[in-house]
Amino acid sequence: MTRSPENPPWAVVLGVSSGVGQAIGAAIATDPGYNVFGAHRGHYPAGAGELAASVEAAGRTAHLHVGDAGTAEGVQVTADALLRRAGPRSVALFVHSIANASVGRFVPERGGPRDGSPKVAPDEDRDTALYRVLAPKHFQKTFDSMAHSFVWWAQALVERDLLAPGARLLALTNPIGHSLVANFSLITAAKAALAVYVKHLALELGPRGYRVNLLNFGTVETPAAAYGFGTRWARFKSICEASTPAGRLLEAGEVARFVSLLCGAGAAWFNGAEIDFSGAQAHSILDAALRHDFPPPERTDG
Ligand SMILES: NC(=O)c1ccc[n+]([C@@H]2O[C@H](COP(=O)([O-])OP(=O)(O)OC[C@H]3O[C@@H](n4cnc5c(N)ncnc54)[C@H](OP(=O)(O)O)[C@@H]3O)[C@@H](O)[C@H]2O)c1
Repeated sequence: MTRSPENPPWAVVLGVSSGVGQAIGAAIATDPGYNVFGAHRGHYPAGAGELAASVEAAGRTAHLHVGDAGTAEGVQVTADALLRRAGPRSVALFVHSIANASVGRFVPERGGPRDGSPKVAPDEDRDTALYRVLAPKHFQKTFDSMAHSFVWWAQALVERDLLAPGARLLALTNPIGHSLVANFSLITAAKAALAVYVKHLALELGPRGYRVNLLNFGTVETPAAAYGFGTRWARFKSICEASTPAGRLLEAGEVARFVSLLCGAGAAWFNGAEIDFSGAQAHSILDAALRHDFPPPERTDG
């Protein structure tokens, strides 16, 4: 299929209705000017509407598919919808921005809320998940939607000949694997698998001219990030600000603008790379902990 300003390539963004995925969808429509095929399950209709409006304001087409894009079956259904809408060799960028992990612990915390006490925490509703003991169903959901589905999508895109020449595939990760947080065990493990998948896909897809990379960025305020910390979210944000040399949290729009850069010809040699966009958040946690004013006062904005 011939591409032209009237017939631009498509970006596929999974998790397009919120957080980083929403920001990436909006940025990509402006620079480099792709149409956006987004997938989400419908929990954030306002975010989906804002995304569609910003893509259309940029003069591009938004097609939003509502369904689960993180299961083996969901990948096939969503990729078929993509083929019907965008056609073969149309996808220049694929971004996997699904956040659908289970938090919890492998064993109950010693002396913690689940160790002999039925009560979980002062704010039980927000913190229940943090203290649960992870079961096989949590492993399956987290690995399917956060790791395995990245490979299933690569397979589905190749099988349907959906990728445009030079297409870029991007997975997203965080620096938490470098300074562990209890309750995040499954997320950290799934991200480790994702990192290996990226390297292997880069090996297999590189000879076809495609590029597969992993973008590692620091904490951004989103529903998924807040959920993962429950009532400790305000404290975690304060710690991130104190331990990031720039002294503040990263914003979704900053990640999105960097993804626009990664679409350019100058980034074509990145392949199988873990690209560090963390702002040194995880590098400097020990240095921050040594400062006289650490821990920082807790933020009061929730
Ligand atoms: N926020 C951070 O601090 C941070 C830092 C580094 C990396 N990341 C990574 O960035 C990615 C996005 O995270 P985020 O913080 O932006 O999350 P978020 O704001 O909570 O958004 C998650 C998006 O994924 C969609 N989604 C979840 N499960 C889905 C499924 N099975 N199929 C289709 N869509 C699904 C959600 O919509 P529905 O629920 O309606 O489906 C929503 O659009 C994740 O991979 C995360 O690990 C985040």
